[in-house]
Amino acid sequence: MEVVRTREALRAALPRFPERLLVPTMGNLHAGHLALVAEARRRGGPVVVSIFVNRLQFGAGEDFDRYPRTLARDLDLLREAGCDLVFAPDEGEMYPEPQTFRVRPDPALAGVLEGAVRPGHFEGVTTVVMKLFALTAPRAAVFGKKDYQQLLVIRRMVAQFGFPIEIIAHETVREADGLALSSRNGYLSPEERSRAPQFYAVLAGLAAEAGKLEQPAALRAAVARAEARLWDAGFGVDYVTIRRRADLGLPEAGEVGPGRLVVLGAVRLGSTRLIDNVEF
Ligand code: PAJ
Repeated sequence: MEVVRTREALRAALPRFPERLLVPTMGNLHAGHLALVAEARRRGGPVVVSIFVNRLQFGAGEDFDRYPRTLARDLDLLREAGCDLVFAPDEGEMYPEPQTFRVRPDPALAGVLEGAVRPGHFEGVTTVVMKLFALTAPRAAVFGKKDYQQLLVIRRMVAQFGFPIEIIAHETVREADGLALSSRNGYLSPEERSRAPQFYAVLAGLAAEAGKLEQPAALRAAVARAEARLWDAGFGVDYVTIRRRADLGLPEAGEVGPGRLVVLGAVRLGSTRLIDNVEF
């Protein structure tokens, strides 16, 4: 496995890795990230992983400074996972001058849910992902469904700008108790960690219940009950909602039915923010 830290070294290395697939990450890798690497390998072609904690996508008061940076361990894991090339730039390399040119994602998609709670978040994500796409020129890139809205925003960006890059989605990887793997799980105290799986349990229960409903009003009532259950279990609820998978719009009568919808949620547990989703 080759590791490059600069754009120049990346440019020099890329011709040795034709038809490559990119897995963009912020490091502190876990089995979820490694599943994306395995998915990329399955698709054939050399696998490039980027590791960069992107300041642009963190809001003021968010966890940019305390976000875990574990490069040496990440590289060991990637070596074992069969990654071919790692691009791990520092900030000066990625943003040698202030990033005053930005991608402005469609507010209808990127201004709701995570985008409403975290203003500017998806602008930061799309700007860095576009830059990573330009720097690595992959034929495909793999993203996790764990960040469902991010996946949709990136799909739309790629479609609208006409990037010749296939976007591959991978299922969310979970702990045995259902909790979605996340770098932020490391912030949880043991007591919080023991309660965290209730978040997924409530979302999965809501998806199972909503799958049998037909009217939007009935969905709204089921959502309200799920939200109340989470508050009762000690979570702070940013949102719980049922949306169309295609565009995250609110389903209307006639659009409720299997295979079309997704439950999305974001909660706070102590000082840790968790997001998750369940398709149904
Ligand atoms: P990061 O949070 O490191 O996640 C990198 C990729 O791993 C994303 O596609 C994310 O959806 C996926 N991922 C995280 N946890 C997962 C899980 N439990 N199961 C499956 N996939 C999972 O997402 C980002 O970084 C950044 O926003 C980035 C796209 C790199 C831009 O900075």
